Amino acid sequence: MDNILEEAALPDRAGTDSLKWDALKETFGREDLLPLWVADMDFKTPLCVRKALKRAADQGAFGYYKIPDRFYDSILTWERERHGTTVWQRDWIRTTNGVVSGLYHLVQALTEPADGILLLTPVYYPFFNVIKGTGRTPVYCPLAEESGVYTVDMDRFEQTIREEKPRWFLLCSPHNPVGRVWTKDELTSMLEVCRRNGVRVIADEIHHDLLMPGRIHVSAASLWEGEGKPVTFFSASKTFNLAGMKCSILMLPDEADRKRFDDFEAALGGGGCSTLDYVAVTAAFEGGGEWLDALLQEIYGNYLLIKEALSPFPGVTVSPLEGTYLLWIDLGRAIPREKVRSFMLDACRAAPDFGAWFYPKDGETGAHIRLNLAAPRQTIETAAERLVNGLRNAPGL
Ligand SMILES: Cc1ncc(COP(=O)(O)O)c(C=O)c1O
Repeated sequence: MDNILEEAALPDRAGTDSLKWDALKETFGREDLLPLWVADMDFKTPLCVRKALKRAADQGAFGYYKIPDRFYDSILTWERERHGTTVWQRDWIRTTNGVVSGLYHLVQALTEPADGILLLTPVYYPFFNVIKGTGRTPVYCPLAEESGVYTVDMDRFEQTIREEKPRWFLLCSPHNPVGRVWTKDELTSMLEVCRRNGVRVIADEIHHDLLMPGRIHVSAASLWEGEGKPVTFFSASKTFNLAGMKCSILMLPDEADRKRFDDFEAALGGGGCSTLDYVAVTAAFEGGGEWLDALLQEIYGNYLLIKEALSPFPGVTVSPLEGTYLLWIDLGRAIPREKVRSFMLDACRAAPDFGAWFYPKDGETGAHIRLNLAAPRQTIETAAERLVNGLRNAPGL
């Protein structure tokens, strides 16, 4: 492991009020499980962030504040230098208390109650709650799948839009849980269909920094000429393990969208993040690049390790990990769908996200699990051992 990460490794977070480690009993009914679920990391945030937070704590005053210019600069510089994204402008930036909370606000501010919102499934399940919770209508288009590789069936995508007439498309890019980093061509095709059919796009790009070797992130907004550019969320929270800080970035390219969103927020009395959030996010974007490079290497190694360990089992399909640190695995030809839960909990003593959570309807669910690979190698070695032992002892193999 790279030195930077060795210093940051947290192989055991039990007793730190971590949801991933300390809510096993509530969620899975037992505590003796290796936590491989909730999407945060078993690594400390980069040292530069911890130092900046300590400095802020020592300074000692936590009164009213003004968002520092450095916060905006750090975002724009990071996007330009890390991804070559030059489309963003400073006055488009808003902050929300996390992406999910921001989505609730944005959907209420920008969409009409009768609007349908399109999702490509399987997908990050809080999207279902956002759409239903705001009283909008979900429209689903399943991704196409072959040997664990997921793509958008463009004919089906357009047909769904023509028939069900959603006004909005909530794009997940990179796509959680299937690990795809959409290519420029794929994004261009999706956006063209949306433009042709008058569908506006909300792009959740929270995983955009988490790219495996050879993958590049193209921001949907950079592919849209003129008015109506995708409204886009991203953050430092997934990238630098700051999810508990609850600060994410919303890019609103259109003036009319900004006005609607700002009016909505003002009517709620204003939102925003806390002073320490701005300190952490700025420090991460300014100084976290090297840490992230080391992290991505570690995650990619973790992916190869699991893939290799599961390769002797023909009934198991591991989807290629192009982006995110969340590995999508289909146990379908090894473990019957209704036994996946007991297989993972009882036979493997591991707590994954269950595939069923990512589908809107029960009947569509396969026998998938999603494993969180953002952990030190020893944790992932233990995960691999437990999965392999479980599969060896599984009936019918
Ligand atoms: C696609 C996607 N959006 C949003 C989130 C959560 O964002 P936040 O914690 O900022 O609400 C996640 C977390 O896993 C995610 O995968």
